[in-house]
Amino acid sequence: MKNSKMVLYYYLGRGSLSQLKGLLDGKRGGKSDAFAVVVIDHYFDGKNLFSTDFLEHQDLVIYADTTEEPKTSYIDELTDLVKERGQLPVAVVGIGGGSTLDIAKAISVMLTNPGKSVKYQGWDLVKNPPVYKIGVPTIAGTGAEFTRTAVLTGPEKKLGINSDHSVFDQVILDADLLKTVPTDQFIYTAMDCFVHNEESLLGRINDAMTIALAEKSLDMMKEIFLGEMDHEKLLVASSLGGQAVANSSVGICHPLSYGLSIVLGLHHGFSICVAFNQLEEYYPNVKVFKEILKKYNIVLPRVMEGVTEEQLDIMAEATLKNEKPLSNAFGDDWKNIFTKEKVKDLLRKM
Ligand SMILES: [Fe+2]
Repeated sequence: MKNSKMVLYYYLGRGSLSQLKGLLDGKRGGKSDAFAVVVIDHYFDGKNLFSTDFLEHQDLVIYADTTEEPKTSYIDELTDLVKERGQLPVAVVGIGGGSTLDIAKAISVMLTNPGKSVKYQGWDLVKNPPVYKIGVPTIAGTGAEFTRTAVLTGPEKKLGINSDHSVFDQVILDADLLKTVPTDQFIYTAMDCFVHNEESLLGRINDAMTIALAEKSLDMMKEIFLGEMDHEKLLVASSLGGQAVANSSVGICHPLSYGLSIVLGLHHGFSICVAFNQLEEYYPNVKVFKEILKKYNIVLPRVMEGVTEEQLDIMAEATLKNEKPLSNAFGDDWKNIFTKEKVKDLLRKM
């Protein structure tokens, strides 16, 4: 039986970022050498889009490069940088999208566990309690703020550190931060959550809790994107979707998107949209998804233009490595149903 861990505390509300100072001060306990590590998406560097009055001079601010999704080598490099201080920080804070939050989660774990991060890619491999950590999403949809996964690309595999130790102790959901995101990025990321819900609901790894969370999240997303945009509601929908998928599983779309991302280097949310757009035969809500894209004037480009037969082969193989999601979607006999030829046919349309 699964013992499901959830985020312990969260603030929800416009302006709630202002609570971060009090949280960090509480951890510092008035000690002048007590420092926090604050990982901020490099997108915010020099832009002054939110107040940083929570920082003290001794804090270590890292503007994380999220051009590519985080690599294990990058996590090791950042962890070493923190260790140069000679003592542990009182907190690790992540402010940004899914990649930034995953970087913060991974650093908090790696500061107290020996060896390289590649050693912890997998399930429940982390032994020592991590440094206290706070997640502040600036984009909604990845669910990273509420899951126990820190997705990392290692030398051999793209696989998360999946551990109870990688769950945030505290989350701050401040809708004012979402105003900073460019529209197309905003939609691609939100649709990641839409797809998590659809995959989770139509798979067989489910329980009453995950179904309730995913159904409500999906309903809210439809209201938000076909009706009136509401950033706070979107943050909540993303959180519910994150909790749902964390305890169920993705399905057909995520494996295909991994294939696309590995060969073409596409960002997660975008490759999810490209893949989901071609999955009408499996997912009824692809229709709704297309309506949303139309409403927001988003035309997905063809990404397979110029892709060689050899690259297509690599994509299909990367897709078919995802045994858990595919058996979640198709059952034990998935290999006979979702064949390499079928995968290649789908990919060719993208
Ligand atoms: Fe996803």
